[in-house]
Amino acid sequence: MTAPTPRWHGEGMIVRHDAPTGADILIAIHSTRLGPATGGTRMKPYPTLEQAAHDARRLAEGMTLKWAAAGFPRGGGKAVIRIPEGLPAAAREGLLRRYGSLLRGLGGLFQTGPDVGTGPKEMDLIAETGAPHVFSRTPARGGAGDPGPYTALGVFHSMRAACERLFGEASPAGRRVLVVGLGSVGAPLVALLREAGAEVMVSDLREEAVRRAASSPGVRGIPPSDVEGTACDLYAPCALGGTLNAGTIPRLRCRAVVGPANNQLAAEDDAARLAAAGILYAPDFVVNAGGAIAITGLEILGWTRERVEKATAGIGDTLREVFARADSGRMTTSEAALQMARDRLDSAPAADPLW
Ligand code: PHE
Repeated sequence: MTAPTPRWHGEGMIVRHDAPTGADILIAIHSTRLGPATGGTRMKPYPTLEQAAHDARRLAEGMTLKWAAAGFPRGGGKAVIRIPEGLPAAAREGLLRRYGSLLRGLGGLFQTGPDVGTGPKEMDLIAETGAPHVFSRTPARGGAGDPGPYTALGVFHSMRAACERLFGEASPAGRRVLVVGLGSVGAPLVALLREAGAEVMVSDLREEAVRRAASSPGVRGIPPSDVEGTACDLYAPCALGGTLNAGTIPRLRCRAVVGPANNQLAAEDDAARLAAAGILYAPDFVVNAGGAIAITGLEILGWTRERVEKATAGIGDTLREVFARADSGRMTTSEAALQMARDRLDSAPAADPLW
């Protein structure tokens, strides 16, 4: 049994214990209203099964909102593979193959791509088992590869929309931007910001990653303990969720939060807390849709690079709409984005139940 997540109205969850590794596979299907449940596979250790299940539910809900806000005909789901610390590579491979067989058996009920702890190589392994609709395989296997750079592009367009709102000028040139987490999205985001002439600050728990990024001109490293206290225009959380909470928000010294990490708000009240602190919040599920929409566009809709550029730039426009809706409805930007996504969900014809 896994503990419930408050106010989670998802369709269901598949839980499978993997005896050979001691891992647990959790596939949360939040909503198939707009299309097949599609979301990443997150693979990492969690202290308890309950915490892993809670994360899977919230991440699956985030995917529902992400697709809906982006106006994309897909449903929300997410897989979490809870692995033991230090799982050896060979055991990990076996686990991924068994996970692939499970997905094959589900026959497309859940369609996956990479997330924290997985990438195109893992997607290749999963797809080798015959699992259908595995996104972001390596180009050598016919996939569109890493979604990170596309997600970063969507974040960049979101930052332009936020700068426009704050300063009346969309260009981030000369703005101080703090990028926390130098993974598959944070790293390409730093490159885009440098090219645009922003003053970039970076932080990561891995000192080596900070040193590497900070060796480029225009980039300065910040120790993880100084993240909240660092004065900046834009703060971009690019790692795990829950970093905006009652403890951190009073210490923030940024004008806006615009980043790709999923589920940045520890609780819904944190949106009001940010607003009260005078910080503009760009809702994560709007900002971070670039990778998911670009990859599904490229792989199933036959999109060209130009079409991808247009779709990622469209994320900035969606965010402008969110800001306008928040103003006219006197609500937080988070409420406005939720309302926008829910309107889309409610006006869609009810999908055939898949199970
Ligand atoms: N990690 C991606 C996200 O959270 C999931 C994804 C990637 C889904 C690629 C589909 C294709 O949006």
